[in-house]
This record gives sequence, structure tokens and C-alpha cells, in this order.
Amino acid sequence: MPDTRKPILQAARDFVRQELKDDSSGHDWWHIVRVANNAVAIAEKEGADLFICELAALLHDIADGKLNESEEAGLQKVEQWLILHEVSEIDRNHIVDIISKLSFKGGQTREDMPSLEGKIVQDADRLDAIGAIGIARAMVYSGHTGRPIHDPDLQPREMMTLEEYRNGKSSAIMHFYEKLLKLKDTMHTSAAKELAEGRHQFLEVYLNEFYDEWEARK
Ligand code: ADP
Ligand code: NI
Repeated sequence: MPDTRKPILQAARDFVRQELKDDSSGHDWWHIVRVANNAVAIAEKEGADLFICELAALLHDIADGKLNESEEAGLQKVEQWLILHEVSEIDRNHIVDIISKLSFKGGQTREDMPSLEGKIVQDADRLDAIGAIGIARAMVYSGHTGRPIHDPDLQPREMMTLEEYRNGKSSAIMHFYEKLLKLKDTMHTSAAKELAEGRHQFLEVYLNEFYDEWEARK
């Protein structure tokens, strides 16, 4: 990697750490570190542009709709940062494009992710929502939004608006059915598919154990 790129990555780490250090909604700094590490590991296997993957992964949650006045304002923040740090126009447009297409949003607006680097960052972000870490994040997020661990009277919601997805009645366990168990089949790259398989199985083992304990069978 050319030496001009290393200081940009370091500046991105410093910026994002500062911006997200106090977040308790599952977008904290360590989520960013895990996604960046996953993205680099997948990018090495897939022969993708490591700089684009790492920088897009580092910046991907800066633009999140939950943390900004609007998604548009969030994307502008990312763009301004890239301009300030003299990232080339072609790389800047690529990174902003990836970040604008990343969010899952309750499955309502699944857009195409055309570039390999975009696919890799999306895979890396989704991997962090499943497995042992994904479970911990779902529990934390539920608490953060005042929702319970589980409520046997709730049914998974199939069709819902973004507003219902963000603010409706739900639980951490319902989130498994509404999102987590679906993520395995949305992976793009073969490296991520393999990792997702193991993490998905862990979700299923966890749910079985959870219901056994809930029903006092174990
Ligand atoms: P989304 O765009 O779907 O809100 P995020 O990536 O912003 O997803 O979510 C951050 C973390 O919080 C993820 O690990 C996600 O699985 C979890 N999460 C999001 N919504 C919920 C929810 N309703 N209940 C439990 N966990 C959630
Ligand atoms: Ni993320």
C-alpha cells in the first residue's frame, strides 16, 4: 500500500474513535474495529482493493441515519472528511457510494451493491451482526431501546415500515427472526459465506438452548 494511504487510514481511525466512543446502540468503536478487520481479511482472500475496503469499513457507521439528522447529512459528513484528507475523487466517490448502500433498513430497501469492495464491507458488517458477537449486540440494542430480551406473546413481523422496524414493539429474540437468521443468505463473497455458516449455526444452537431454559426443560 503506498505510504500516502497509511496516514489517511490512521486519521480515519482517530476520527471514528472520537465520534463513536460513547455510542451504546451497537455502533461503538469496537464494532468498527471488528468490521474493518473482517473486511481486510476477506479483501485479502478475494483480491480486492485493501485501502477502499478498510477506509469504507472505518467510516461506514459515521453516516448512519440513527446517529445523524438525516442519512444525507451523514453522507455529507463522510464526503467532507474524505475531501479534507485529500482522498482522490475516484476513491472518494467509490467510498461514499458503498456507505450509501450499506444499511439493511428492515429489508425494505435492498439496493444492489455493485463493486467487489462494497460487497466485502457489507459482508463484514453483516458478519458482526451474527454469531456470539451478533447476539451480544442484539441484547445490548434491545436494552438501549427499552425492549425486553423475550416476550412469548410477540410474533416475528414480516412486513413492516422502517418506522415500525425502528420503533415498534419487539424483543431481542424477535430480532433473530426479523434479521439475524436471514443474514447468512445475503452474503456475497465465498469467504464471508463460509464464516457466516458457522456463526449462523451458533445462533440456532443458542436459540434451542434459550427456549429449553425458558420452558424450564433444562
Ligand atoms: P439496522 O440498520 O438494522 O438498525 P444496525 O447495523 O444499525 O442495523 O444495528 C446495529 C446492531 O443492533 C446490529 O447488531 C443489529 O442486529 C442490532 N439491532 C438492530 N435493530 C435491532 C432490534 N430491533 N433489536 C435488537 N437488535 C437490533
Ligand atoms: Ni456497522
